[in-house]
Amino acid sequence: MTKWTLGVLGGSGLYEIDGLENAREEHIVSPWGVPSGNVMRGNIGDVELVFLPRHGKGHRLSPTHVNYRANIDVLKRAGCTDILSISAVGSLQQQYAPGEFVFIDQFIDRSFAREKSFFGEGCVAHVSMAHPICERLSGLALEAGKSVGATCHKGGTYLVMEGPQFSTYAESQLYRSWGCDVIGMTNMPEAKLAREAELPYATVAMVTDYDCWHEEEDDVSVENVLKIMSQNSAYAKELIKTLAARLGTMPRENGTQGIETCLDFAIMTPPE
Ligand code: ADE
Repeated sequence: MTKWTLGVLGGSGLYEIDGLENAREEHIVSPWGVPSGNVMRGNIGDVELVFLPRHGKGHRLSPTHVNYRANIDVLKRAGCTDILSISAVGSLQQQYAPGEFVFIDQFIDRSFAREKSFFGEGCVAHVSMAHPICERLSGLALEAGKSVGATCHKGGTYLVMEGPQFSTYAESQLYRSWGCDVIGMTNMPEAKLAREAELPYATVAMVTDYDCWHEEEDDVSVENVLKIMSQNSAYAKELIKTLAARLGTMPRENGTQGIETCLDFAIMTPPE
């Protein structure tokens, strides 16, 4: 089997990555439209890393305007075997404090103004999203996070809202009552599209704020999101390097969740 190629989608506050050997920018064209930008690719030991800042250079794409289909397609065309999403999130629970990392394992998708599938007219497929996160990749990311000294939490449910405005107080309390742990604006449909592309996907959710439900904490603002991200992007960059180095020591093989072959059982339309 070929080696690992780790795709990394950088969120708010993470627009570049350092420490890549043989770093080069690549322009990859997608039939799904314009991706968020060129990818930066290079090596960390035996692993190839492909980095794409989700919101584009200079953060010019809102969560609604990111072309998620083109981004996932471009990472697939770049040869990625796995995708790590680095995402700023608000905390919906006391135990997840700003500056901490949550390695989430579930989503509730409340986004609504986005293209969510590669399959539509002509070819219909229904992939399982019961377990949206790749346990192996998330586990490796968690180990890497701990080893670089970040405060890490295993598991959690990420509520995806459409944005771009933050939640109202009533919405924030509603999501808390549903048992959600963190809130963000981007990981859906990204995770669904990664699954349709048979790419294992895991999220490092970096907590930047307590949204607006907390009685003693300030309501979320761009200012506090960026402040915490600038303090924590160094951790995220170290985590990525440590994870890539660890992957390089492992034989490349399919995981136990069937993600890499999930389309074998998902397509309804018979071949012509
Ligand atoms: N990203 C960072 N903090 C957030 C919040 N409170 N709500 C939605 N997206 C976020």
